[in-house]
Amino acid sequence: MDQKTEFCGAGLQPQPPAQEPERQYYFIERCRRHTEEFEKRHGRKPKACVFNMGCQMNARDSEKLSGILASAGYELSDSEEADLVVYNTCTVRENANNKVWGRLGYLNAYKKKHPHMKIALCGCMMQEPGVVRRLQESYRFVDLVFGTHNIYKFAELLDTAFEQDGMVVDIWEDAGEIVEDLPAERKYPFKSGVNIMFGCDNFCSYCIVPYVRGRERSRSPKDIIREVGRLAADGVVEVMLLGQNVNSYGKNLEEPVTFAELLTEIEKVEGIERIRFMTSHPKDLSDELIRTMARSKKICRHLHLPLQSGSSRILKAMNRHYDKEQYLSLVRKIREEMPDIALTTDIIVGFPGETEEDFLETVDVVKRVGFDSAFTFLYSKRTGTSAASMEGQVPDGVAKERFSRLLEEVQRASSKRAGALVGQVAPVLAEEVNEQDASLVTGRMGNNYIVHFPGTKDLVGKIVPVRLRECKGFYFYGEAACTHI
Ligand code: 5AD
Ligand code: SF4
Repeated sequence: MDQKTEFCGAGLQPQPPAQEPERQYYFIERCRRHTEEFEKRHGRKPKACVFNMGCQMNARDSEKLSGILASAGYELSDSEEADLVVYNTCTVRENANNKVWGRLGYLNAYKKKHPHMKIALCGCMMQEPGVVRRLQESYRFVDLVFGTHNIYKFAELLDTAFEQDGMVVDIWEDAGEIVEDLPAERKYPFKSGVNIMFGCDNFCSYCIVPYVRGRERSRSPKDIIREVGRLAADGVVEVMLLGQNVNSYGKNLEEPVTFAELLTEIEKVEGIERIRFMTSHPKDLSDELIRTMARSKKICRHLHLPLQSGSSRILKAMNRHYDKEQYLSLVRKIREEMPDIALTTDIIVGFPGETEEDFLETVDVVKRVGFDSAFTFLYSKRTGTSAASMEGQVPDGVAKERFSRLLEEVQRASSKRAGALVGQVAPVLAEEVNEQDASLVTGRMGNNYIVHFPGTKDLVGKIVPVRLRECKGFYFYGEAACTHI
């Protein structure tokens, strides 16, 4: 666990403290009383499943929810057949919402057979007003609903759900304080996400994130460095700095700090061997950051630089604040400083008004840049965003056909890039024993490519030099070049 629960339950005061995080430690202790009662009645600890449905930010939030539950006495489980199920939802595309509605049907059936079970929903989808209304009308079996701004209050809300009948709903429209020092239960002992900022101010016209995650707020460098130091002391060798737009980190702090300056400080933390970050907005990527990356031994040679579209006309309608030429010249500049860098991207197909010519501009950028990999998405209309009411919505069939063509281009470009690495020896952080073949270990190179190589579980968490033998598109088979470095 990242932080230890030091709050002492003996002699719990009748009134909770007003200060955070002390208040939440008080409620963790109260929840522990519920779990102890459960254990007495059932002869086992209650099981809790935190199911993450979203991006890396959500994944880190899920680790915080799990940390609170573990401190409260729950046994964590991957199975939704549990005594408490928490869905940490996403809403960036409509299909993310559909997945939640579908799974709720299944949970309802399970809860009918296990009436003591509790169901909690949180995350981005809950910040949409229509969603909460629908839950209140047709999904009364849900016990607790909260949003993105009050996730730190999970213990308090869970305690309320135990004390009170009916659905507990607590959604805040705006972000409150950033609460530090709550527990977190990491999925991997050797690597961790670290939030450096929350929210987004960019209002790309298709994107719901600024509405559900609120305005941009940076954590103080002091708090971030302290967290990274603690993680390193706890055996973490790789950190992933998380924010919707890390390149604008620190602009709104009382004493402004640039993202490059923050990286330089993090690099000094002993024990941390690899630093990653995401996501970078091309409009804010500074020369200072490129220089800092180029001279660093710890910052991974990987940039995730969402393109979204290669058409300058569509980029303008998307409110991205760069055009095709600016994106291409940024890529040139990055590659001049770091020829070995891996570039990955996000692309949306079928944005309102996208013509065949616009689409071909996107294909042209994909060919010219040669991304190491790209996440491609069909445009999804999100209520409340400005693109939702734009004219020229692209018919499904047309968008899907473009999507397949784009995928082919992306795959062609990425196998060419990956193929060129065969024969090299690269440091690989071994992450787990391969699920399909237990004689293999699976890990990641600094540039984020996945490598499978013969090895045993004692390698997990170590950085091993591996010779890349065979390329299978976006992953490699390799062989440890030697086991000691
Ligand atoms: N439709 C499709 N893709 C979207 N993304 C964000 N909003 C939408 C949407 N409405 C994609 C963008 C972003 C990634 C996280 O999700 O490409 O970079
Ligand atoms: Fe959405 Fe744009 Fe903010 Fe990314 S930068 S979260 S795409 S609004």
